[in-house]
Amino acid sequence: PYTWLYQFPLPIPPVKNVTEETTNPVTGGKIQYFEVNIQPLTQQVYPGKSPAKLVGYDGYSPGPTFYMERGVESVVRFINKSPTASSIHLHGSYSRAPWDGWAEDLIKPNEYKDYYYPNHQAARTLWYHDHAIDHTAENAYFGQAGMYILHDEKEDVLGLPKGPYDVPLVLSAKQYNNDGTLYSPARETTSLYGDIIHVNGQPWPYMKVEPRQYRFRFLNAAISRSFFLYLERDLKPGQNEKLEFNVIASDAGLLSGPQKVKDMYISMAERYEVVVDFSKWKGENVTLRNTRSFAADEDFLHTDKVMKFIIADKRSDDSSGSSDDNSLPGSLRTIPYPPDKAGVDHSFKFERTNGEWKINGVSFADVNNRVLAKPKRGRVEVWELINSSGGWSHPIHIHLVDFKVVKRVDGRGQVMPYEAAGLKDVVWLGPNEKVTVEAYYAPWDGVYMFHCHNLIHEDHEMMAAFNVSMLPN
Ligand code: C2O
Ligand code: CU
Repeated sequence: PYTWLYQFPLPIPPVKNVTEETTNPVTGGKIQYFEVNIQPLTQQVYPGKSPAKLVGYDGYSPGPTFYMERGVESVVRFINKSPTASSIHLHGSYSRAPWDGWAEDLIKPNEYKDYYYPNHQAARTLWYHDHAIDHTAENAYFGQAGMYILHDEKEDVLGLPKGPYDVPLVLSAKQYNNDGTLYSPARETTSLYGDIIHVNGQPWPYMKVEPRQYRFRFLNAAISRSFFLYLERDLKPGQNEKLEFNVIASDAGLLSGPQKVKDMYISMAERYEVVVDFSKWKGENVTLRNTRSFAADEDFLHTDKVMKFIIADKRSDDSSGSSDDNSLPGSLRTIPYPPDKAGVDHSFKFERTNGEWKINGVSFADVNNRVLAKPKRGRVEVWELINSSGGWSHPIHIHLVDFKVVKRVDGRGQVMPYEAAGLKDVVWLGPNEKVTVEAYYAPWDGVYMFHCHNLIHEDHEMMAAFNVSMLPN
């Protein structure tokens, strides 16, 4: 079979341009207005075969990357020029409920919707993706996903790699038909792991890098596959070496300090930012690998490989304003953790019953019962997430909030240091694991979703809602 292993360069999604900039008449602050077309595109993946037919944003998959400044609000008009309905969720944003991408709030073909985003959280890597009821898996897999990077000035003093040395890496895993078109997950009911690993839409790319530090922003945009990544120096067979790198940020932005690791779990929808120092390996190759059979995921011939870095002998002269030394500050920021709270406010079982995925026995289709929690606005709640579905993984995403991962019981048995050093909005529930998370249910009132981010599970009803409301007087 044809393989693309390290044959093509890593594509970088284009930068999203502002259509118009205005002033908020109330606050006097800036508002940037953008327009995004949800439209079909083709991608020639297999040479000499049919192109894959995708639907992406502005004709790209992943869609263009937004670069936003903290404090500048945005309005994004998503215009649906595709044949199916969409809903857009800005994952990682505390958007007000009407603009959070509620699964039933659909933009039908030939309609548009304007989404408002406050962009007032600390700097972080967010992503925008489809959230249409029962069709999220297909829509995200066929291309409706992109990055949205929020920057703030506090980051600048840290001297982290920037400009061309700050690189988005959107991971996905897909499967193709014999004619070269993309195999659809539409009829799957459990998972589609995919045998072809993509980075920024390209199967197994390579990237030429300089011998210096890079900041890589990882997003796992696969619909069912988790990764357990490591970097390997290409020595002779049998002599390979796992390299050290630093995790500096997760879902809700920078960690308290860099976490030195040799491998890193990243489940669906999680974001981890890492700094890799290539200066030690001038003129060598380093491969980004995935560990085989570490979870319930199905592996194929090349699913242990992700991409290759080809390191030049020397740095280019262009310093792009980046710091020249290859050190990292020991502390990055103070994390706004919620205060410790005893007890458990809600306990949720993620389970499989009669071939359906449910949360505490409820499916999202059960409209009268799907609100499973009613936190008071501004209060801290402790939620216990229990995987009682046997051998399956469930990355659990809670909209609106940033949570602290308090405890992992069974499974891995420990909260990873890079999970504990920051706040998260997705936590991976491995087979038979129980994870406790704690968050402020704030800043807004409203009904929000929480669900499994194996999008096939989400579409098959492993989703529920919580209703944040004001305290009574
Ligand atoms: Cu990334 Cu409810 O989604
Ligand atoms: Cu799941």
